[in-house]
Amino acid sequence: MRIPLVDLKTNYLSVQDEVEEKVGAILTSGSYILGENVEAFEQEVSQYIGARHSVAVNSGTDALHLALLSAGIKPGDEVITTPFTFAATVEAIVYVGAVPVFADVEKETFNLDVSRISDSLTEKTCAILPVHLFGHPARIDEIMDFAIINNLKVIEDCAQSFGAHFRSKYTGTFGDAGCFSFFPTKNLGCFGDGGLVTTNSYKIAEALRMYRNHGISKPYCHDVIGYNSRLDEIQAGILRVKLKMIDSYNLLRRNLACRYTQHLGELPMVQVPVELDEYGHVYNHYTIVSPSRDKIRNALASAGIASAIYYPLPLHLQKTFSYLGYREGDLPRAENLAKSVLSLPIYPELGIDKVDEICATIMACFCK
Ligand SMILES: Cc1ncc(COP(=O)(O)O)c(C=O)c1O
Repeated sequence: MRIPLVDLKTNYLSVQDEVEEKVGAILTSGSYILGENVEAFEQEVSQYIGARHSVAVNSGTDALHLALLSAGIKPGDEVITTPFTFAATVEAIVYVGAVPVFADVEKETFNLDVSRISDSLTEKTCAILPVHLFGHPARIDEIMDFAIINNLKVIEDCAQSFGAHFRSKYTGTFGDAGCFSFFPTKNLGCFGDGGLVTTNSYKIAEALRMYRNHGISKPYCHDVIGYNSRLDEIQAGILRVKLKMIDSYNLLRRNLACRYTQHLGELPMVQVPVELDEYGHVYNHYTIVSPSRDKIRNALASAGIASAIYYPLPLHLQKTFSYLGYREGDLPRAENLAKSVLSLPIYPELGIDKVDEICATIMACFCK
């Protein structure tokens, strides 16, 4: 495609010198696993996000899995979450033997509708797992109020929301744990797989450190069955370079989003992303909603412009979760979004002129 959805190579070239110097130093150090870069990266993220502890792991999926384990979620517990997310959110619930319970989403923010969470509450509910989808925070203050009243844990899925905030607090600092992904296409991405959990709980942080490293509490003492889920030194070193850029990356994304919205907000057939008052959106994706989604997508493809559908089928209707017994019509907002969302190219290196061109192509669809 002439205009790709993301451009990882150009991003790499913009940090190449510093990254190669860092990686070279790690390679010659002879220390590749749980060394000084992982520790320094954890401290730098804690400081940036404003969390007491950060524990780096090898993916966002493992961040979710190990955070649920460390927060004490057990087989048979129910965890309320959204059906409109990437499958990893819900897979992690299943990994710990818990039962995902889906609540419908808001059609404007695509995030959990707090009024639907209360409909899903039972005596087995132990936790809520909100996702800050596409970079817009879920209504996390209301979710926290509900969780405190009902004595529930909150595990935040921040895979798409590094740097997003509600008032002056970053996502990942509200609940018991915040789970980040550093998959290459994320706002803060490494050049491989990576993840991290933030928490203010010493107990959860200690459990996470054991679970990510074979249950080891001290050398060759295995206290629990753990996993091999460590972030490696090379990815941590790369992430340290890119963490210094995150504010400028997020600002560039926000400027591009603003330009998209200036153009596309005029179109009656297109719903542009909202940014609620007091919420800071970081636009991991710029996602529009339109009944003419397929027509727009085809016009973009003909002009050599990539787009993507996140997500074409909500999780409650996926084969893998059919055992949960949901049917079409159970979660209508998520189902309607799946039929009408379209994510447009957005990445720090995408110029405003490209956004203008993409918007002109979309606007032309409605003039025919
Ligand atoms: C919302 C959400 N949760 C979890 C994940 C899983 O992260 P990872 O790919 O790093 O395992 C992703 C990644 O795409 C995601 O978008």
